[in-house]
Amino acid sequence: MDRATGWEILTEYVQDSGLRRHMLAVEAAMRWYAERLAGDPESWGLAGLLHDFDWEIHPTTEQHPADGAPILRERGCPEDVVKAILAHNTAGSGVAPSAAMDYALCACDEVTGIIIAGAYVRPQKDVRVMKAKSVKRNWKDKHFCAAVDRQEVTEATAAFSEQCFDGKLQLWEHIANVLAAMQGVAAELELDGRMAS
Ligand SMILES: [Fe+2]
Ligand SMILES: [Fe+2]
Repeated sequence: MDRATGWEILTEYVQDSGLRRHMLAVEAAMRWYAERLAGDPESWGLAGLLHDFDWEIHPTTEQHPADGAPILRERGCPEDVVKAILAHNTAGSGVAPSAAMDYALCACDEVTGIIIAGAYVRPQKDVRVMKAKSVKRNWKDKHFCAAVDRQEVTEATAAFSEQCFDGKLQLWEHIANVLAAMQGVAAELELDGRMAS
């Protein structure tokens, strides 16, 4: 499955622009890490791009992404990508992360939400002017983007670090990496200043 096919599936199943943006952000973070961990950027990117593709048709954590997996297989999605997607919700799917790609997806998923929300509250609406430091400030404000479970991100990052970085990837470094990845696709995310107020 190539990226164009992945995008077709995404736009077929996901109408909400915020959810599309979320998937694009996670895709960028996954590609960023694939390049540094000798992963296949196409597979890792697809896992990010499609991980929540079925949320609008399966909007509960019991259904999502377990019930979406057969659709992805039918559409030709490689099994390692399907598995990474299943493993981003172990509680619902029964599939635990085991490959580097799986751990990366768990660590990159929610953290993009804080960065996107941070870009929105700034008048520039441009992810490229953001600094890791300001994301850190937002992170520490527990009322900011409260839907993002800090504890969950911390744990997923620690597991990813353990598996792929000998425990040396710190949370703030991870956040800076995801920010850098997202800055690289600012236009795709429409967070390149076009909505500046
Ligand atoms: Fe999800
Ligand atoms: Fe997600």
